[in-house]
Amino acid sequence: MSVLTDKFGRAITDLRISITDRCNYKCVYCRTGNEGAVFGELPFADYLRMAQLLVGMGIRKVRITGGEPLLRNGVVNFVRDLSQLRDVGGDPLDIAITTNGHLLADMAQPLKSAGLNRVTVSMDAVDPERFARITRVSNGFDNVLAGIRAARRVGLWPVKVNCVLMRGFNEDQVIPFGMFAREEGVIVRFIEFMPLEEDRVWAPETVVTLDEILRRMAEYRPLVEIPHARSETARRYRFEDGIGEIGIIAPVSHPFCGHCSRIRITSDGKIRTCLFSIWDHDLHELMRRGASDEELRQFIHGVVQRKEERHHIGEPDFVPASRTMVHIGG
Ligand code: GTP
Ligand code: 5AD
Repeated sequence: MSVLTDKFGRAITDLRISITDRCNYKCVYCRTGNEGAVFGELPFADYLRMAQLLVGMGIRKVRITGGEPLLRNGVVNFVRDLSQLRDVGGDPLDIAITTNGHLLADMAQPLKSAGLNRVTVSMDAVDPERFARITRVSNGFDNVLAGIRAARRVGLWPVKVNCVLMRGFNEDQVIPFGMFAREEGVIVRFIEFMPLEEDRVWAPETVVTLDEILRRMAEYRPLVEIPHARSETARRYRFEDGIGEIGIIAPVSHPFCGHCSRIRITSDGKIRTCLFSIWDHDLHELMRRGASDEELRQFIHGVVQRKEERHHIGEPDFVPASRTMVHIGG
């Protein structure tokens, strides 16, 4: 099977599908405090057809995102259907979900049984008060913690925890999260804040950079860097005594666009070739008009050729993305 490759020679092997742009949280680095507009959702059968085509074109990892994907009824069946695509591609297909964890405690086992490999939970503070201030939800912390523990218990392994660091909100959580990674047996990944939020509050000073995170963690315990796959978002580190792993995703201070292997499908069926794309490509409209699989494949090939070389965060020519994070899915 030929692998999808863009004009810079990057192989496209990772697909992120957003199945809803609704969310029950209003995290400060993502949403406004109000109910935002939604672009909408497609029937699962449409996402499945898109995924099937793309797996046939070389996709090896499918990540389900949102909004909050576990809000959507039918997500467990969707995972089951996706796991059948393993037979299409030959090699194992990695199926993962990124979730805020609020509904995960009860859904971890059904998701695992349906064929989900692993889960990543967004959690931005280990302190319940800070957590509430960031998510703008008062009763979330215990649910998320229970969700993380359930995911580990049922073997959705490795469980990763994403923490977006934002100055003034949670930069003091670095060491507590180091302890959390060791105690809970999860990989905590610190993420540099990117300008994709609805409130447009991003400024260079709000970013807590990789260097600062490493400096803060060094006050707790020594870290040793471990190798990571080239297309992986995170740089990986383990604590020197062998207990616990953390990661740092540093798209602002150390961009990794040169090795990007991702494309995205939005919940309303558009292909995005970059988080920071200023346009998207309407795959669903083509399907709705009755396009054949071959026509859709040609469209996808053409779109991938237009994948952006890199993002321009922090540069004078930066143009904000055409959608904010909640409408892209991370
Ligand atoms: P793994 O397969 O477990 O490595 O997951 P992942 O890191 O690809 O996915 P996740 O949903 O956990 O995303 C983690 C963070 O990386 C989020 O903040 C994403 O927005 C960010 N991220 C993912 N892909 C890209 C990308 O292509 N470019 C940039 N700049 N950031 C990305
Ligand atoms: N910058 C960086 N990461 C973000 N995420 C959401 N918004 C932002 C942002 N502005 C993260 C979420 C989730 C992942 C998919 O994207 O925390 O874990």
